[in-house]
Amino acid sequence: MSEDTSRTMIAGRLNVETGAFALKEVPVPDPGPGFVRVKVEAAGVCLSDVHLIQGLLRPKFLKGSEVTLGHEVAGTIDQPGPGVSALAPGDRVVVQAGYEYNGVTLTMGVDYDGGWAEYLVVPAGVCVPLGEDIPFDQASIIPDAVSTPWAAIASTAQVRAGEAVGVWGIGGLGAHGVQLLRMVGAAPIVAVDPIPEARARALELGADVALDPLAEDFAEAIKAATAGRGLDAALDFAGVDAVRSQALASLGLRGRLVLVGLSGKPVTIGDSTGFSFARKQVLGHYGSEAHHVPQLVSLTRLGRLDFAGSISARLPLADAEQAVKSLDAKEGNPIRIVLVP
Ligand SMILES: NC(=O)c1ccc[n+]([C@@H]2O[C@H](COP(=O)([O-])OP(=O)(O)OC[C@H]3O[C@@H](n4cnc5c(N)ncnc54)[C@H](O)[C@@H]3O)[C@@H](O)[C@H]2O)c1
Repeated sequence: MSEDTSRTMIAGRLNVETGAFALKEVPVPDPGPGFVRVKVEAAGVCLSDVHLIQGLLRPKFLKGSEVTLGHEVAGTIDQPGPGVSALAPGDRVVVQAGYEYNGVTLTMGVDYDGGWAEYLVVPAGVCVPLGEDIPFDQASIIPDAVSTPWAAIASTAQVRAGEAVGVWGIGGLGAHGVQLLRMVGAAPIVAVDPIPEARARALELGADVALDPLAEDFAEAIKAATAGRGLDAALDFAGVDAVRSQALASLGLRGRLVLVGLSGKPVTIGDSTGFSFARKQVLGHYGSEAHHVPQLVSLTRLGRLDFAGSISARLPLADAEQAVKSLDAKEGNPIRIVLVP
């Protein structure tokens, strides 16, 4: 990617060595062959951005020590690079949060510059046409806040209709996880979150039961919800250590725990004999595959999904630091905060 040094833009940049985050004036990037420049219309704020700033997550493939954050982006094509004919200026697109290159997964806003900026340059192939009917803010959160739980449910956990599924963490990912589980017919859907408002939200979005993970009768409540059998699948959308042992203990025969939340800590299987006896599984999960975002765009356009209630706040890009603090402190209990350049 080359840079047009005559034009500049504002970008939210993280120094991954020092953890310093700041809005900086940087050159507007120019798209090379096969790439496109996207004018960012909306960009989501994820707990992974908070993890990055706090040093809990480190880029594996970043060149240099600075990156523009933002892996949830919707916008319009500003300039197709040489050789790109499938996209034209003005096309509304949602941008996949990463891609595989040479056998490795590269994540936007982690391994290369992301969308907390006025413009970003990405390979043309990661842009998914949006059509006219989905607003940019709702579209921006599809990659990751919706596509990651969708991939976890549909591909990694392979949830089938009628299965009992527990969802730990009813934030950005988990709130959509509940909606998606409802769509695929999981039953019962057991939502778990220490925040009462998050539990109330889960019930509104389609959970059958909402539990406080700190409640003394938690294990009995899981049994009561599943007629004593335990969960077929448990999804960790919290990234908190305590979730793993609690979720593992809540699984029934052949139950699988999918680790989506990123805690950076070891996973411990306490009752390893019980784990083997019940033939439980622990599965890692990251991101989504190329088909998941187009599927979700289609499901949304067909009215099967609606993210109108998912946008808790729209803040100007200049307030990126405040957005990060609000998500970290759960101020106003947000599902997703979206930045608008
Ligand atoms: N694997 C991936 O591909 C991937 C992608 C995106 C995000 N993530 C990770 O997923 C996690 C969630 O991200 P998010 O943006 O939805 O976060 P969020 O902050 O919006 O939501 C997290 C929720 O977890 C709840 N929680 C905290 N402790 C809990 C506990 N003990 N039991 C149950 N719930 C608890 C919080 O109250 C909150 O509602 C983060 O760790 C993030 O880094 C992973």
